[in-house]
Amino acid sequence: MTAYPLLTTPATVGGLELQSRAVMGSMHTGLEDRPWHVDELAAYFAERAAGGVGLIVTGGYSPNVRGWLLPFGSQMTTRLNAHRHQRVTEVVHANGGRIALQLLHAGRYGYTPFSVSASATKSPITPFKASALSGRAVERTIDDFVDSARLAKKAGYDGVEIMGSEGYLINQFLAARTNRRTDKWGGSAESRMRFPVEIVRRIRQELPDFFVMYRMSLLDLVPDGQTWDETVELAHRIEAAGASVVNTGIGWHEARVPTIVTSVPRGAWVDSTLRIKQELGIPVCASNRINTPDLAEDVLAQGVDLVSMARPFLADADLVAKARDGRADEINTCIGCNQACLDHTFKAQRASCLVNPRACHETTLVLSPTRRAKRVAVVGGGPAGLATAVSATERGHDVTLFEASEELGGQFRLAMQIPGKEEFAETLRYFRRRMEVLGVNVKLSTRANPDLLAGYDEVVVATGVAPRTPAIPGIDHPKVVSYPDAITGRVCVGARVAVIGAGGIGFDVTELLAHREESLAEWKAHWGVADPAVVRGGVTDKAPRDPRREVWLLQRKESAQGKGLGKTSGWVHRAVVKDLGVHQLSGVSYDLVDDAGLHITVDGAPQVLDVDHVVVCAGQESVRSLYDELVAGGFPGSVHLIGGADVAAELDAKRAIKQGTELAAAL
Ligand SMILES: Cc1cc2nc3c(=O)[nH]c(=O)nc-3n(C[C@H](O)[C@H](O)[C@H](O)COP(=O)(O)OP(=O)(O)OC[C@H]3O[C@@H](n4cnc5c(N)ncnc54)[C@H](O)[C@@H]3O)c2cc1C
Ligand SMILES: Cc1cc2nc3c(=O)[nH]c(=O)nc-3n(C[C@H](O)[C@H](O)[C@H](O)COP(=O)(O)O)c2cc1C
Ligand code: SF4
Repeated sequence: MTAYPLLTTPATVGGLELQSRAVMGSMHTGLEDRPWHVDELAAYFAERAAGGVGLIVTGGYSPNVRGWLLPFGSQMTTRLNAHRHQRVTEVVHANGGRIALQLLHAGRYGYTPFSVSASATKSPITPFKASALSGRAVERTIDDFVDSARLAKKAGYDGVEIMGSEGYLINQFLAARTNRRTDKWGGSAESRMRFPVEIVRRIRQELPDFFVMYRMSLLDLVPDGQTWDETVELAHRIEAAGASVVNTGIGWHEARVPTIVTSVPRGAWVDSTLRIKQELGIPVCASNRINTPDLAEDVLAQGVDLVSMARPFLADADLVAKARDGRADEINTCIGCNQACLDHTFKAQRASCLVNPRACHETTLVLSPTRRAKRVAVVGGGPAGLATAVSATERGHDVTLFEASEELGGQFRLAMQIPGKEEFAETLRYFRRRMEVLGVNVKLSTRANPDLLAGYDEVVVATGVAPRTPAIPGIDHPKVVSYPDAITGRVCVGARVAVIGAGGIGFDVTELLAHREESLAEWKAHWGVADPAVVRGGVTDKAPRDPRREVWLLQRKESAQGKGLGKTSGWVHRAVVKDLGVHQLSGVSYDLVDDAGLHITVDGAPQVLDVDHVVVCAGQESVRSLYDELVAGGFPGSVHLIGGADVAAELDAKRAIKQGTELAAAL
């Protein structure tokens, strides 16, 4: 008997027989946009269906050109499109899965000069002002949704999902924020709802037996969004129009509340799904930041019918199968970093996954069994070394991993101490367990040297990075602390602290020092999340934060701080640091550290920061002396240099894991 009976056993939901109640949520990965990627798309979905996903929802496809997310973006508009997709639907079905095509009209979020919306408005996150759809164009757009659904059926899809959340066109009709129309598609709440309701009604009329999921914005998180009463009314109308299932969407893309990054507490939005469930006769699906089978099972036990996990299936195609088979501790858990998925999508690059670089590269990054097993030494148990050791062993090589410290994890062990990055520990749990299962020979507390490595066919040097010490007068004063010492608590940092360096680690250390633990309710209050039954849009003023320490965050550069942080997560860090009342100074020159504190000059004016400690986050240097020794000594086997030891680039586990996996695939 499985520990996850609700999640992993077959069920019929919304008329579809599913192998599990796990939905792989919609993700536009970049594989959808070009027809020549269809085989890669098929391989990517096939692995997820084989891994036990009940229902896959594709990334968004536009019903027409005006709805493109980006120029020449994905669309389902012709018989030829439908014909190509048969390859995708066939392999998913052959692997026991079901698949629905998502229909997404970007509206004013389209990155094209000819985007359209309910009214002529520009979104704060796109450069183009959308033009208003005429009444006839609204009718044509509804017809286009119906045509796309018909084509999806021809392509062999089991159903469609209508994308009615995250601030795309349908939301733009629903909310007074963006709908200023005075015809039958605007004005009262009832009129604003007419557009999505008509889409669902006409698809149902045209395709009576087709599965139609509607992704509904349960919380808009923007001013002038919908009220809870309006959302409930919409849900009733969508049900009456013939939807099979209501899925959950949270927050418009332009919302200033984080909804999916790693610092968002797990399951933060489930309460909204449970609330709408009470209003509906049709099944509902929960979504966003549900990344473990335990949480998914718990959500299902509370009465939700399906659980959507999007990124967790990038991280591990076999999540459901592993949960079902009692191997949940072998799941490679999504850590919500967005670094290789959403950040890529927002930069028009193909999505993948930091912890699983094979995601969306299933046909090119292949870990096939080796024909000649080699003796491989991996030096360094950080992310780069761990990824190499696991992947090389999976291929059949005989791997020994040397780690100088008592524990595996390298710099990731520091990362997981940062508030909001605690889940990075899951990646280390995954690697540790996989190595145990695979039988990798792990030698802890063993600093590798050329003698120890004699006799190996291949040596992979993944010795990582060490903090850089800047040349500042007084740098060896007792007030000066390295970031590892501050993070691990080896030095107990005082109440007033200066942080030198406002890169990724500087921001993380600042948050660690100033942050106080918060409950889910406090987290929501700190971000201004309100009850939409009380405040329209579900967003209000942020509750003030009470910093644990007074912190100065300093950088030499004149530019604004935190510019180089992640595309979709950087703004969250910048907002937290601001809300914590951190003093942020740029264009700083560091003059001296002494008993009085940190002496600096800003804009030509010298000043002394009277601080207890100065934490140095001034970059890192590659640790590569072993590599140099091996090469200089003419090591007879092959020597490889990877990860931070190759390029020291602060927050770059993505590169480290990818490089390790790619090397293992080539050994
Ligand atoms: C606070 C903090 C937050 C971070 N947040 C993020 C983030 O959000 N996203 C991100 O992508 N990255 C983040 N990083 C960076 C990330 O941790 C590094 O990019 C990654 O760990 C580099 O991996 P690596 O394996 O190359 O090196 P390391 O992690 O440095 O590991 C190297 C390992 O080699 C061992 N070693 C060294 N010499 C020897 C030897 N001779 N013999 C045996 N063992 C040896 C070391 O003990 C160490 O365990 C963060 C780092 C910190 C400090
Ligand atoms: C790379 C990427 C692309 C996405 N594209 C879409 C999309 O096309 N349509 C959609 O409805 N949601 C999209 N989403 C949002 C996901 O469906 C989901 O709501 C989000 O990832 C949070 O859920 P998770 O924590 O289970 O990943 C995307 C998410 C990611 C990471
Ligand atoms: S890149 Fe990060 S957020 Fe995206 S799927 Fe992978 S672990 Fe999850």
